[in-house]
Amino acid sequence: MPRVSAPKLALLERLARDAAAHAYAPYSRFSVGAAVLTDGGEIFAGANVENASYGLSMCAERNAVHQAVSHGARAIAAIVIYTPTAEPTPPCGACRQVIAEFGRDTLIVCCGAGGKVRRHRLTDLLPDAFGSGSLVAMSASHTTARKGASQPRQLRRRRP
Ligand code: THU
Repeated sequence: MPRVSAPKLALLERLARDAAAHAYAPYSRFSVGAAVLTDGGEIFAGANVENASYGLSMCAERNAVHQAVSHGARAIAAIVIYTPTAEPTPPCGACRQVIAEFGRDTLIVCCGAGGKVRRHRLTDLLPDAFGSGSLVAMSASHTTARKGASQPRQLRRRRP
């Protein structure tokens, strides 16, 4: 797991908390903020942004990760997530999958409002993740399966 210094973690936590203050969460009233530390040492933050069409709402973690990636990052060392709850809140499944795309070993730090902090490794939160390697394996087995399969018949052209 990448080592992140205590002052850097404190900065990330502050930025995640600041981001949560900008959350647009009129429907759930659950404001979340996230701050991503890239392998290059850059920091990007994001908040959850909801929509009246609920399914279009976006989590804070994914907004932060996408900010980082949009600025050129391809590897995420750590993500700090802040929720205004007594207990720290772990990231949802969709966010785990998106984080996995940019770091299987990413450090995930969840902070609650009361100062409680919980640390995880992404591999523990999302073991046996689906990833680019899975796609390679799938296309290989697809090719094998197709070898014996009958080819689609040519459609005969109708005479005019
Ligand atoms: N939310 C996040 O921002 N991150 C998560 O990991 C879980 C949930 C947001 C989405 C929605 O705006 C609100 O919290 C309630 O689900």
